[in-house]
Amino acid sequence: MCGIIGYLGERPALPILMEGLKRLEYRGYDSAGIALQTLQGLEVVKEKGKIAFLEEALGDNHSAATFGIAHTRWATHGPPNRENAHPHLDGSGEVALVHNGIIENFNSLKRFLEDQGIEFVTETDTEVLAHLISFNYKGDLEEAVQRSLTQVEGTYGIAVIHAAHPGEMVGARNGSPMVVGIGEKELFLASDVAAILAHTRQVIYLDDREMVTFKNGEFNTKTIQNEEVDKEIQRITWNLDSIEKGGYPHFMLKEIFEQPTTIANAFRGRLIEDEGLAKLGGLSENMEDLQQVERLVFLACGTSWHAGLIGEYMIEELARIPVEVEYASEFRYRNPVLSPRTVAWAISQSGETVDTLEALREGQRKGARALGIVNSVGSTIARESEGGVYIHAGPEIGVASTKAFTSQVTVLAILTLLLGRMRGMSSRLGKKMVQELQAIPDKVQRILEMDDQIREIAEVYAGVDNFLYLGRGINYPVALEGALKLKEISYVHAEGYPAAEMKHGPIALIDENMPVVFVSPLGGTNRKILGNMEEVKARGGKIIAVVNEDDVNASALADHTIRIPETVDFLSPLLTVIPLQLLAYHIAVLRGCNVDQPRNLAKSVTVE
Ligand code: G6P
Repeated sequence: MCGIIGYLGERPALPILMEGLKRLEYRGYDSAGIALQTLQGLEVVKEKGKIAFLEEALGDNHSAATFGIAHTRWATHGPPNRENAHPHLDGSGEVALVHNGIIENFNSLKRFLEDQGIEFVTETDTEVLAHLISFNYKGDLEEAVQRSLTQVEGTYGIAVIHAAHPGEMVGARNGSPMVVGIGEKELFLASDVAAILAHTRQVIYLDDREMVTFKNGEFNTKTIQNEEVDKEIQRITWNLDSIEKGGYPHFMLKEIFEQPTTIANAFRGRLIEDEGLAKLGGLSENMEDLQQVERLVFLACGTSWHAGLIGEYMIEELARIPVEVEYASEFRYRNPVLSPRTVAWAISQSGETVDTLEALREGQRKGARALGIVNSVGSTIARESEGGVYIHAGPEIGVASTKAFTSQVTVLAILTLLLGRMRGMSSRLGKKMVQELQAIPDKVQRILEMDDQIREIAEVYAGVDNFLYLGRGINYPVALEGALKLKEISYVHAEGYPAAEMKHGPIALIDENMPVVFVSPLGGTNRKILGNMEEVKARGGKIIAVVNEDDVNASALADHTIRIPETVDFLSPLLTVIPLQLLAYHIAVLRGCNVDQPRNLAKSVTVE
């Protein structure tokens, strides 16, 4: 989603801002722009489309400006064109503002400002804020921003500069992440650490309704109610290497291939094999709550929601605790029944998805304990949870989530073990779970070695416009995830269904043009699925089957068989999802799609 970077220092700002924007590309955007403070005032360049077009528009601009802000926009109000791109200016061209989020009361503010004779040139909510700051400006930029923010409703991460205040930048946050980077004689303001990591590891995360002002080379933090706040400086520990492609043509492929390592990272140090136990340091303060918990409610969106569904199968089956998995966007607007013995558990790669964050807050307001399963260290959900588990997948750059999903499922398996052993699971079963989990990375590696075979299958079906994915039991969510991966990155219509539901509708679609992907490892409901395969076969449908190495029955029915190693039923999603990720990836590449930044999608959805 939208990205912000601001720079104030002694070096030329332009290359730093452009590099920062490129690091933010992965979040998804549709236009980009930059504002530099020059001796003549503010120089603003904006362009629709990719950052490469902005670079073209900048031509051989070698501005010596050492101060500026830049933005990648993901359209919410007004189409993605040059006018609606950020930075936005006030009427005099003196205030420049970049903004992530949505100003919800922009219509009433706009009417008010229009009544004062102010003219608008874009359809955006952001332009309203630029004019409002200008309207409130009486010579002090920080005060003007502060006063304006008390008048807006909605979400924002902003960076503001003013032509009359060289070297002064004001940033603020409400519901949209902002981080301050502290370098040697330079300061950064960004919506994402990735944008500034090449320059500094010392950061401060702003909390909601906080602002920061850079002035005279120093920074100062306060609330928008003007109360001083002391913020802790944190050190980022991950490397720039982990956000570069490392020889792979796409981040998504790199991340798919990282999974043997990321899955191992998710369980490293958390399993006690001899005793068949799990320990999760981030939950040490919550053990009493977990011992008494009556119900878990997973709150998530997209791929993380699919991980939650797998968690539901695991935890109900093995730890015998009732679990609900809720779309965060729905949960936050209903009136769910919660109690202090309910744990509302947010699952989020980014830790910034606004629906998930708000659902967690709603859960907490209704008296539930609030915990998180998060990838991004220091993210808002991580900070607002009462405890939780990091999945340690490292930065995930490809918009379509892959390694975060398998790391989430791994953590949910560890959680199942932890909760199960509190509630009667035998140490023998616990040990078996530990051993099976430890064996997963090698098995994932073996599946990755089948990449060529999966690409060949992709070549057969790259021209098809509809796919059906079917699975049962714990592999039903994997069917959903396989279909989601395909539609996200290749724009092919794909639906995931519980296999037995096929006959209640989707079967009407099946003919020789409709490939059906069956996710059917041995165990559980495998034998039942054979019947569903027969039904597809009888209607001329094409079958791609993800099955175990010695499953002769399914292989006999399938047009294409992807044979994966065996594991226990409840861990099988960690294996079955890998060929589906690769299949989606290759189909997208063959169709010429932009795999890492699919159209209309954003990595982290920070608006409703
Ligand atoms: C966006 C991303 C998905 C992701 C979802 C939830 O839609 O494109 O890949 O699954 O948000 O994100 P989260 O960061 O909360 O897991």
